[in-house]
Amino acid sequence: MRILCLASVFGLLGSAVSQPASADAYFSTELPVAKAGLLANIGPSGAKSSGAKSGIVIASPNTVNPNYLFTWVRDSSLVFKVITDQFTLGQDTSLRSQIDNFFTAEAALQQVSNPSGLVTTGGLAEPKFNIDGTAFTGPWGRPQRDGPALRSTALITYANWLLSNGNSTFVTNTLWPVIKLDLDYVSTYWNQSTFDLWEEINSSSFFTTAVQHRALREGSALATRIGQTASVGTYDSQAANILCFLQTYWNPTTGYITANTGGGRSGKDSNTVLASIHTWDINAGCDATTFQPCSDKALSNLKVYVDSFRSVYPINSGINAASAVAVGRYPEDVYFNGNPWYLSTFAVAEQLYDGLLTWQSVGSIQVTTTSLAFFRQFSPSIATGTYTSTSPQYTQLTSAIKTFADGFVEIAAKYTPSNGGIAEQYDKSTGAPLSAADLTWSYASVLTAGASRAGIKPASWGASGLTAPAKCVPNPGPQVSVTFNVQATTQFGENIFVVGSVDVLQNWSPDTALPLSATNYPTWSLTVNLPANTNIQYKYIRKFNGQVTWESDPNNSFNTPATGGFTLNDSWR
Ligand SMILES: *[C@@H]1O[C@H](CO)[C@@H](O)[C@H](O)[C@H]1NC(C)=O
Ligand SMILES: *[C@@H]1O[C@H](CO)[C@@H](O)[C@H](O)[C@H]1NC(C)=O
Ligand SMILES: *[C@@H]1O[C@H](CO)[C@@H](O)[C@H](O)[C@H]1NC(C)=O
Ligand SMILES: *[C@@H]1O[C@H](CO)[C@@H](O)[C@H](O)[C@H]1NC(C)=O
Ligand SMILES: *[C@@H]1O[C@H](CO)[C@@H](O)[C@H](O)[C@H]1NC(C)=O
Repeated sequence: MRILCLASVFGLLGSAVSQPASADAYFSTELPVAKAGLLANIGPSGAKSSGAKSGIVIASPNTVNPNYLFTWVRDSSLVFKVITDQFTLGQDTSLRSQIDNFFTAEAALQQVSNPSGLVTTGGLAEPKFNIDGTAFTGPWGRPQRDGPALRSTALITYANWLLSNGNSTFVTNTLWPVIKLDLDYVSTYWNQSTFDLWEEINSSSFFTTAVQHRALREGSALATRIGQTASVGTYDSQAANILCFLQTYWNPTTGYITANTGGGRSGKDSNTVLASIHTWDINAGCDATTFQPCSDKALSNLKVYVDSFRSVYPINSGINAASAVAVGRYPEDVYFNGNPWYLSTFAVAEQLYDGLLTWQSVGSIQVTTTSLAFFRQFSPSIATGTYTSTSPQYTQLTSAIKTFADGFVEIAAKYTPSNGGIAEQYDKSTGAPLSAADLTWSYASVLTAGASRAGIKPASWGASGLTAPAKCVPNPGPQVSVTFNVQATTQFGENIFVVGSVDVLQNWSPDTALPLSATNYPTWSLTVNLPANTNIQYKYIRKFNGQVTWESDPNNSFNTPATGGFTLNDSWR
C-alpha cells in the first residue's frame, strides 16, 4: 500500500491518507494534488517555478536529464485551457488573476523575436521560450504550428465568458488583437509542414491539424460575436479546407488515424487520442468528420492504438486482451528507451469518459462496421445497429466501457508514487516514474480526465453539423505581392511573358507563361503574389508568331521579403 502524504508536498492536508487503486478513490485524492502540482509550476509565485515570469508555465521543474525548465506554448496553452474551464464553469473563481497573467505573458511572447521569425514572419510557431520570457536560441524542432491554435482556444474560452459577463470592452480592445494574431497565423500557415507535438517529425500531424481546425471555427464565431468580421470569411474558408485535409489522415483499410504524414512509423499515436479529447464538443454527438470521442473512427483508432502497446511493455504482460494496459506516445518510441506516459494513459480514459457523456446526451449508441471491433471487446456478439439508452445492450456496453476507462486510471494510479507527484513517463518494466518530474501537462491530464469522469462538459466550439468539402483546397502559405517591370522594345504583335521556378510562375513552362502588359511601353509589367521568404528564379520570354525567344543566361534571381511587396526593375537581356 502506498501512502499519500500531501502535507509534506503541498501542505494541503494535515494527515497522511492511503491511496487505494480504484478510479474513484484515486481521483478523490489525486485531483487536489494534481491541481496544486499544476499551480506550483506557474510563475511568479508557484512553489516550483522560481524564476518564471508572471503567467509563464514551466513544463517541469526538472533541470537535468531532461532539462524541461522552459515554457512551451503548447503545454502552457493546454494547462490554461484547464484553468480557464475551471474558472468559466464556476468551479474555481479564484483563478481569474492567473488567466490574466497568462494572457499578459503570452501577448509578450508573441512579440519576442526568435529563431522562427518575428511576430509577422512566422515567429508565432516558435515552440518554446526561456522562463524569463526571452527567446530560446538553441537548435530545436521548429516550427511547431499547434501552439498558436491551442493558445487562441484557451483565450477564446476566456473571451466568451467575459462577453457573457458584460466585459466586451476588454475582449474587443485587449484580448482580440492577441487572439487575432494567432488565428491569422493558423489561417495562413496551416498547410505548411510542421514538427509534431512530440517535436520529432517534420511533416503534417493529425493533432496539429485538428486543433487548427477548432481554433479557426471558434475564432470565426468570436469575431462575429464582437463584430470584428473582416477575417471571418477567411477563417471560415480555411477551416473548411483544414477539415477536408483532416479526413485524409484516416486509413480505412487499417482502421486507424495515421498520426503524421511523414516519419516512417506506423502512425499509431497518442497524438490522435489527444486530438479527439481536445476537440470534444458534446453538441456534435458522435460525429466522425471531427473525430469526436465516440465517433466510429475515433473508437476504432483507439482500439488499434491501445492494442499496439500490449506486447511492447513488459508491465502489460499477462493482461487480457480486453482490459486496460499501460500506453505511451507511439509503439516505436525510443525516448528514454520508450515507456508509457501518464498523459497518454489518462487521455485514453478521458476519450472514453467523453464518449460515455455523449452517448448519454444522444440517447443511444450506434455500432457501425467501423466501430464493431471496438465494441466487440465488451460484447463479443454485438451486431451493427443503434442501441437506445433503454436497451440492455446500451446498459451492458456503457457499463463495460466505464470499467475499461477506469482501468486506465487504475494503471496510472498503480504507478503513481506515494506523494502523488506525476512525472512524464513510467518505466515499461518496473512502472517507476521516469524522465521529468512534476510535468505540468501530466497534471493537466489528470484534471481533464477527472473532470470528464465527473460529468463536466466544456463549452461547445461549433463542431456540430460540419461537413468536409468534397475537394481539398491547399493553402499556398504566406504570400507577398511582386511586380515585374521589364524594359523591352517589341515589334507589333510581339508580347512579353515571365516564367520561373515556382508554381505561380508556371515552373518554367513557356506554354503557360504569364503575360505582362505594356500600359507604360516600353515598360512591360505584371503584379503577382509569390511565396514569402523564398528564392525565386525567373526569365522573361518573347512570343511572336508562335515563336518563343528566351532571355540570355543566367537566370534572374531574387529573394522575396517576409512581408509587404517587392518591385523588380529589369531590362530585357
Ligand atoms: C474586464 O476584465 C479585465 C480582465 O480581467 C479586467 O481587468 C477589467 O477590470 C474588467 N472590466 C470590467 C468593466 O469589469
Ligand atoms: C496541404 O493541403 C493539401 C490539400 O489538403 C494536402 O494534400 C497536403 O498534404 C497539405 N500539406 C501540408 C504540409 O499540410
Ligand atoms: C520540413 O519539411 C519541409 C518539407 O519537406 C522542408 O521544406 C523544411 O525545410 C523542413 N524543415 C526543417 C526544419 O527540417
Ligand atoms: C535556369 O533554371 C532552369 C530551371 O531550373 C535550369 O534548367 C537552367 O539550367 C538554369 N539556367 C542557368 C544558366 O543556370
Ligand atoms: C524598382 O523601382 C522602384 C521605384 O523606383 C523602387 O522602389 C524599387 O526599390 C526598385 N526595385 C529594386 C529591386 O531596386
